[in-house]
Amino acid sequence: MQTALAQSLLNWYKVHGRDLPWRVKGGAHPNPYVVLVSEIMLQQTTVKTVIPHFKRFMERFPTIQSLAKADINEVYLYWQGLGYYSRARSLYATAQQVLKEYNGQFPLAKEQVLKLKGIGPYTAASFLALAYNQPETVIDGNVIRVICRLYHLTQPVDEIRPLIKEKAMALTDKKSPADYASAIMDLGALICTPKNPQCLLCPWQEYCLSKTASNLEAIPYKTKNKKPSKRANVYLIRNRQGQIFIRQRTEKGLLSGLYEFPWSEEKLFSELPQQDTQKEITHVFTHFKLVLHIYKIKTEQVSKPGQWVAIENLPNYPFSTLMKKVAKYL
Ligand code: ADE
Repeated sequence: MQTALAQSLLNWYKVHGRDLPWRVKGGAHPNPYVVLVSEIMLQQTTVKTVIPHFKRFMERFPTIQSLAKADINEVYLYWQGLGYYSRARSLYATAQQVLKEYNGQFPLAKEQVLKLKGIGPYTAASFLALAYNQPETVIDGNVIRVICRLYHLTQPVDEIRPLIKEKAMALTDKKSPADYASAIMDLGALICTPKNPQCLLCPWQEYCLSKTASNLEAIPYKTKNKKPSKRANVYLIRNRQGQIFIRQRTEKGLLSGLYEFPWSEEKLFSELPQQDTQKEITHVFTHFKLVLHIYKIKTEQVSKPGQWVAIENLPNYPFSTLMKKVAKYL
């Protein structure tokens, strides 16, 4: 049975739902590969940022085969600007796994989807709902906001995640879970926005327990935890030919596989003649804030692993957003 809530949301979505490049409206079957790429990109990145990257990525890797057979360094190049590069590595590993173990056809069973790299319970649920119209429930920041406001859940979000999930699941439309998933995300993105929600345009206004609440914008309630901050030095090293010294990060951990200018929490190159630029850049990761102090060095030899490249060739190497910020000081 379709609830009145689901019905009104689906009607609203037909008219007002967003046209997004990974989305097919009107009953056509989406391509599961397209759904997976977009869901992985959207895990920690906003729709607005993802759109141009997604388009570029799909032009270069239009099929799961084309991605699985590519060089990982090229995949990183196309991931530049999205951050959280472990997602690119997992997506690449998943493409290879699906090609090898499932002959290029994505599995339909949740236990199998959960075994693919980079796919946790949330991504598995949205993948199965959006790609295969399975009765799974998508829970992202937009959905959390809509649910908390609809039921006026004012406790800190981190303390009521199971309750939010239960409410979200109970509301999910079992006949059109794919459209329903897109619809509730769009409701959060377009109407039930963090600031200035458009309650008068909301298809759920007559059901919403927070509509007239004075603290509406404060729901969902999030306790702020300040991120710890780390300081480090980064070294822009040039030789007489104007080449610049870069190195590739090892295969594990933060930003691994990407190229970078040498940097470290210790003073890595304190023995070399260097110019203290007094310049600092700040970059915020999920769990901490990094402040990098920039040093410029002129030398002909560096005893540490890495390579010299001409400045005009730097765009051929994948760099993180953080290192691109540093490169501006070259
Ligand atoms: N956030 C996560 N998945 C999404 C999708 N498919 N469309 C819009 N926002 C999303």
